Amino acid sequence: MDDSEIGRAAELLRDRLEWTPEIMGVLGSGLGFLADAVDESVSIPFGEIPGLPSAGVAGHQGRWVAGLLEGRRVLIQAGRFHVYEGHPMAVVAAPVRIAARMGVERLLLTNAAGGINRRFTAGTIMMLEDHLNLMWRGPLVGPVREGEERFPDMTTAYDPEFREVARAVALKQGLELARGTYAAVTGPSYETPAEIRMLATMGADAVGMSTVPEVIAARTAGMRVLAFSLISNLAAGISPTPLSHEEVLEAGREAAGRFEALVRGVLAELP
Ligand code: HPA
Repeated sequence: MDDSEIGRAAELLRDRLEWTPEIMGVLGSGLGFLADAVDESVSIPFGEIPGLPSAGVAGHQGRWVAGLLEGRRVLIQAGRFHVYEGHPMAVVAAPVRIAARMGVERLLLTNAAGGINRRFTAGTIMMLEDHLNLMWRGPLVGPVREGEERFPDMTTAYDPEFREVARAVALKQGLELARGTYAAVTGPSYETPAEIRMLATMGADAVGMSTVPEVIAARTAGMRVLAFSLISNLAAGISPTPLSHEEVLEAGREAAGRFEALVRGVLAELP
């Protein structure tokens, strides 16, 4: 999507909502249930936004849900566009750019990821502290967009103050919140055991096929970012069983309660 399409989409959403969301949330594979928890919700399918394709991976719903969650005005993106679906980075990052153009200043991302850190098990929730962009492309290639900068600093891509809040919320809830580095790969084939050994050597604690394009787009627009991975499976060569998308969705269902509590707690407390 080009700048004028982003602008028109932001205007369309603003007209539908008549308010500016405080926080945008993005729900990953198997985590879409949170969209149903939004009160006074307005639902807008991606297909209604000119320039956005209507999404379609099983477990991804493909719509915006705006409303109230924990008393905060939220804009939830249920389902996302992936590089592995063949979408250009300009589409993958478009929802975040639309939100930024609307004036949304905070972004909370979730995803499902494979666990590389040997301390992780299926069901671990990991807060992202840093990432490795191994997609070999990014959303900023091309002309500089309105409100964005050419060379954004990525030292604190994941907001330190937001991370502190999440740690405190997890502690209060008795939730063990892991922390680590997320490696983003293109996919959609899962990794080989050799690739997982390589990622471990590079310092990755988890691996997935999303999130990093959105984080880059958000940071360059000045949004503050917090992100969580649900470790849905142990990565290839660590897992004793073959990997499957069904297993990823099942992990989402199993962790639903803990994940919802964490997200709600964080939403309530984010500065
Ligand atoms: N690898 C990459 N992406 C993933 C995985 C994985 O093991 N699990 C969930 N998303």
